[in-house]
Parts: sequence; structure tokens; C-alpha cells
Amino acid sequence: MSSAPTPPTSGPAKIRLRHLLDAKERGRPFTMLTAYDQISAQVFEAAGIDVLLVGDSVGTAVLGYSSTTSTTHQDMLTFTGAVARSVHRPLVVADLAFGTYQTGPEDAVRHGVELIRAGAEAVKLEGGHEIVPQVRALVAAGIPVIGHLGFTPQSVNSLSGHRVQGRETAGADQLADDAIALQEAGVSAIVLELVPAAVAARITEVVAVPTIGIGAGPDCDGQVLVWQDMAGLSGFEGRFVRTFAHLRGQLQTAAEEYRAAVTSRAYPGPEHSFE
Ligand code: KIV
Repeated sequence: MSSAPTPPTSGPAKIRLRHLLDAKERGRPFTMLTAYDQISAQVFEAAGIDVLLVGDSVGTAVLGYSSTTSTTHQDMLTFTGAVARSVHRPLVVADLAFGTYQTGPEDAVRHGVELIRAGAEAVKLEGGHEIVPQVRALVAAGIPVIGHLGFTPQSVNSLSGHRVQGRETAGADQLADDAIALQEAGVSAIVLELVPAAVAARITEVVAVPTIGIGAGPDCDGQVLVWQDMAGLSGFEGRFVRTFAHLRGQLQTAAEEYRAAVTSRAYPGPEHSFE
């Protein structure tokens, strides 16, 4: 017998940021997955996922770029629109692409407004103290903001690759200071990526806003994964990823069986043909 949890049949008809805060206060972990298109977004809504992140990881997961630094604002508008038009209940969050906010608060607000117009309900941007003016400007413009600390993929070049952040005391203290600075600037939640579990637990304790972990241990208030990693489609098997399905192999098998059926004339049969 399957022990898979069933999607919620009660609870809010629409997830808002206040529900994430409520979940933190009640000690109830919440869920976020990336989504970039109509079908994945609808499947995750049906599964009861609380938050859909139109991540700039669309660049590496879908568009074939080697880094999220290549994902453009136009990419983000296109995929945000696809997800936002496809679901009702999950909160839809979109990433501000590399280069759209590092240049200052005015640019951050201009690009944030466009993401909200495309259907996002909050925007996410990477960084600590250095982006406090951008966060303040976005919040003042009425745009909810989610921060992103730890390994920040848009800084992959200056961070010298995908590395756990905050292992040393000074680095951990800096992360905690950055989290508090983001909270004071008005963020509604903070993603913690590739951070030691104990450091993420400490940050989760000291900030009042929810934390959302990816490679940050079990004590964050919510968890997020790139969906193709979660479902075993990308083939990425980093230490922090658990694959909950094996879609890559299943998809390949389906394509091989289709190919065999077509080349042997077993498909299409009379039942697939019109009189
Ligand atoms: O773009 C993305 O998918 C992200 C997650 C890794 C949090 O930012």
C-alpha cells in the first residue's frame, strides 16, 4: 500500500506570503519547487506544492546555458507568464535575472515591476548587505521580495564554483548578519543554498521570516529543489538531492518503445486511424 501523502483538500484556496510565515510559526514545513511551464506547474499544483519558483535555473535546466548568468530578463518574463497563467493556488515567485538588479535600486524596481506584470507574486534576488538598497526600493514599490544567501549561483564566478558557504565561523557570522540585514530591509523569506545544516538552523532561529533550504539541512522552515533534479529527470545527483522518481529512464524507455513501434509498423494501428 502506498504511503504517499495526499494533496491538501483543506487550507487556503490561494497561498500568500502570510501563509509561509504562519507555517514557520506553527513549525509546519512548507514546499517549494521550481516550475517553468504549464504542465509541470499544473502537476505541482495538483500535488499540493505551496510555492512555485520560476527560477533563473530555467537557463541551465531548460535552455541549455552553462550558468544562470546567461538567463535573460526576457527568459524570465516568458517562463513566469507560462507558470502564472497555469495555476491558481500556489504562490508564484520569479527570479530577477543576473544584471537586472545589481546595477541599482531603479533597475531592480523596473525589472521587478515587469515580473509582477508577467504574473509573479514575489521576486527573488541574490545577495546580502550589498543589495539592501534594492530590497528596500522593491518593497517600497509594493513588490514582495525573497532573499537568497549562501551559494548564490549568479556569483558562481566570484565564488569559484559550486561550494558550501559559511563553513568557517567568520563566513557563518556573515551569513547571519546578511540574513538580519535582509529581514530589516523587508524581505518576506530567505532561500539558503549550500549552507551547513547547523548554520541554516541558526539563521532560521534568529530571523522571524521563513527560511527555505536547498542543501541547507532539515531545520529550514521550507525546502526547495529544482524539479528536474527532484524527479530524476536531469540526471543531477548532488548530495543534497533526493530523487523521488526516475523520469529520465522512463522517458527514454517510452521514446525507445515509440521508435520500435513506428519502425516495426506496430503503431499506429487501426484503433489510431480514421475511417
Ligand atoms: O533558480 C533557482 O532554481 C533557484 C533555486 C536553486 C533556489 O534559485
